[in-house]
Amino acid sequence: MKIIRTVQTMMKEMELLKDKKVGFVPTMGYLHEGHLSLVETAKKENDIVIMSIFVNPLQFGPNEDFDQYPRDEQKDAEVAKQAGVSILFIPTVNEMYPDEMSINMTIGKGSNVLCGKSRPGHFDGVITVLTKLFHMTQPTNAYFGLKDAQQFAMVNSLISELNFPIQLIGLPTVRESDGLAKSSRNVYLSSMERTDATALYSALKLGQKLIVDGIKNPVTIIKEVENFIRTSTKGSIDYVELLSFPNLENVVIINEQIILAVAVKFKKARLIDNIILNPDGSQLDRIN
Ligand code: PAF
Repeated sequence: MKIIRTVQTMMKEMELLKDKKVGFVPTMGYLHEGHLSLVETAKKENDIVIMSIFVNPLQFGPNEDFDQYPRDEQKDAEVAKQAGVSILFIPTVNEMYPDEMSINMTIGKGSNVLCGKSRPGHFDGVITVLTKLFHMTQPTNAYFGLKDAQQFAMVNSLISELNFPIQLIGLPTVRESDGLAKSSRNVYLSSMERTDATALYSALKLGQKLIVDGIKNPVTIIKEVENFIRTSTKGSIDYVELLSFPNLENVVIINEQIILAVAVKFKKARLIDNIILNPDGSQLDRIN
C-alpha cells in the first residue's frame, strides 16, 4: 500500500493509473467495519482502491468536535493495508486548504432537513472537500455508507449536477450485533449510554414494522418512533424525520421510497441512524 500525503503526488499517481478502474473510499479515519465493508466491495468492483483519510475542518461547525474527533493514523494505515487498500491519501489541512477558499460551495435542496438543519453549513463543507478529492483521485466508482444517507443524497446531487464522471454507490450500514450502527463517535458513549443507544435501531425497526403493517401516515410513525426513543434512552432527541429519498422532501402519505431517520444527543456524542424503505416497508440496501 502506498501512502501519499501531497496533492501533487496524488494527481501524478492518478495520471499513471488513468487506464485503471478506480474505487474511491473517502473517510475521516478512525476506521471501523463500516469503512472496511466499503473497501471490500470496492476491491471486488475495481482494479485498485484509493482511500482518503482527512478530517475536514470545513464540515465542522464552530461548536462541534473537530479538535476532539478521534484520530489514529498509524492504526488506520495498518488496517487499510490489511483490508487491501492500494493507495492511502492522507493530506494535512494545509495541503488541502493552503489558503482560505475564495470559492464557497453551498448546497440547497435537501440540505436544510435532518442533520443539515442542526448542522448548518455541514454539507457545504462535505461537497467542497469531495469536489477536491474527486478531482485529485479521479475515481470510476465512489463508495459511501448509507448510515450517512443525507450525505449520500447530497453527493448524488453533486455528482449529477456538476457532471462528475463517477458512479456513486451507497452500501448498507454495518451494525454491532445488538443493532447499533458502527460509528467512530461510538467511543464517546458511557457504558450506560452504549446500552441505551441500541434504542435508535429498535425504534427504526418499529417504524418499519408499522409501515409493513400498512400505516401510511408519516405523523403516526414519527410519533411512535419518538415515544420509543424517549422511553428507552436518557439521550435527547435531535430529530425523528420521515422524508422522501433521495429528494428529502416531506411526504403526506407513504407511497414512494422514503427514509426514516433519527438523531439522538448523548452527553458527548450525537448519534444518527436511518433506514431507507420502499412504500411496502421492505428495506433498500445497496443504491447505485
Ligand atoms: O463521511 C465522511 O467521513 C465525510 O463526511 C467525508 C465523506 C469523508 C467527507 O469529509
